[in-house]
Amino acid sequence: MAALRTYYASMARNALRSASVRGGAGVAAARPALLTGSARGLSSSASRLSDALFVHRDTDYNNPDLPFKFDEQNMNFAKEIISHYPPQYKKAAVIPLLDLAQRQNSGWVSISCMNYVAKLLEMPPMRVYEVATFYTMFNREPVGKYFLQLCTTTPCMLGGVGSAAILEAITNHLKIQPGQTTPDNMFTLVEVECLGACANAPMVQINDDFYEDLTPESMVKILDSLKEGKKAKPGPQSGRHSSEPKEGRTALTSEPYGPGKFCREEFA
Ligand code: FES
Repeated sequence: MAALRTYYASMARNALRSASVRGGAGVAAARPALLTGSARGLSSSASRLSDALFVHRDTDYNNPDLPFKFDEQNMNFAKEIISHYPPQYKKAAVIPLLDLAQRQNSGWVSISCMNYVAKLLEMPPMRVYEVATFYTMFNREPVGKYFLQLCTTTPCMLGGVGSAAILEAITNHLKIQPGQTTPDNMFTLVEVECLGACANAPMVQINDDFYEDLTPESMVKILDSLKEGKKAKPGPQSGRHSSEPKEGRTALTSEPYGPGKFCREEFA
């Protein structure tokens, strides 16, 4: 905690220092922003999903009296998943089963989902709550049809046009802030940490798909096509096939000489 406080304090100091390099007016402008909290923090997502309040409070849409059970297809999936573990360790299937429950339950796990999984795996419900509240892949509040997870970690912040520009494009276009859902329940936006596609920064995950090499324009285009019920093509939006250099190959440009050259027989 002390280390975190020191870190934030040094961030604030650095911000003021860089403002002072720009001139006196910069310091004057930066100080009120830092003191009033209007400076953008490391992450501005409201804590409302998996890492929201750990204590469950019954609501009309999320209480243990609301029924939940796997449909036939998911029950077959669940049985298949459970069969991969020794019977005495079937609780090890808790994460894939919670994921299955979340998919069936429109993208979030309710208390009934968690209780159901606990019953199925014959484990104390508390153990399931612990998993669901620990992993950020589980949403404990309803989300929109399209769940936008925008990466705002450093490589995405610096790569291409930068995630700040993408965030601005989304918030301006959908009129929501991170942590919020559009009134038509189509889109929920959150900021997340690195999703492992840094070579194609900036990027966003929408449901199960990655959209990479984003620009504000391509981001808006993706949102519009989803709104129209069309699936935008996932992957790099820049025309790249994957994460190869834009200007073509820069290494391994000659014929590989193959392992034979250094084989013991050749030197014998
Ligand atoms: S930093 Fe964004 S995907 Fe790694």
